[in-house]
Amino acid sequence: MKFFVDTVNLEEIKLSNALGVLSGVTTNPTLVAKEGVSFHDRLREIAEEVSGSVSAEVVSHQADEMVEEGKELAKIASNITVKVPMTLEGLKAVKVLSELNIKTNVTLIFNVNQALLAARAGATYVSPFIGRLDDIGHSGMDLIGNIAETFDRHKIQTKIIAASIRHPLHITEAAQQGAHIATVPFDVLRKLVEHPLTDAGIQRFLADWNSRI
Ligand code: E4P
Repeated sequence: MKFFVDTVNLEEIKLSNALGVLSGVTTNPTLVAKEGVSFHDRLREIAEEVSGSVSAEVVSHQADEMVEEGKELAKIASNITVKVPMTLEGLKAVKVLSELNIKTNVTLIFNVNQALLAARAGATYVSPFIGRLDDIGHSGMDLIGNIAETFDRHKIQTKIIAASIRHPLHITEAAQQGAHIATVPFDVLRKLVEHPLTDAGIQRFLADWNSRI
């Protein structure tokens, strides 16, 4: 399983990239609004920093408008992936964009049928939202496993991005369930590195080293 970071904060993206583990970035309208930046300018900066896929979400609702928005986003850089919501209009847009060889990420996936339809429409990626399913008492992780099994059985090439990640256990389990990618908030990425026994081990090695004769 590969790692994307789920943020529009450039410092977080640079720090993640410096770790050598970053394969891409996902953004969404909420993250852009929180950061208070010009969307296109920031996408340009992110796409220069990261060589992998950078997902940029459309905000229109009609397929033809999504396609136009997607074409404009795709012009920003060659590694832009157009993120499209899982709706009838979204599927129509994915069909057209994929025929234009523009990569797509179908977002807000909450069941296997939605994932299957998105894949058949030509999506490069599907993004099932684990945390938001857990929030309403459903198993986000079961969904990852079920989509992975279905795609595997039908030899579907569309990649599964485990999204709406809330804590480190989501990462371990998404990898075990067959997600190709997890898109991770930066604070969760940091937590993946940490373990109290690692810290204690470093302290003990240092104390022993300093006490040598
Ligand atoms: C994925 O592409 C989304 O940007 C993101 O993972 C949504 O996460 P949230 O449910 O924490 O908002």
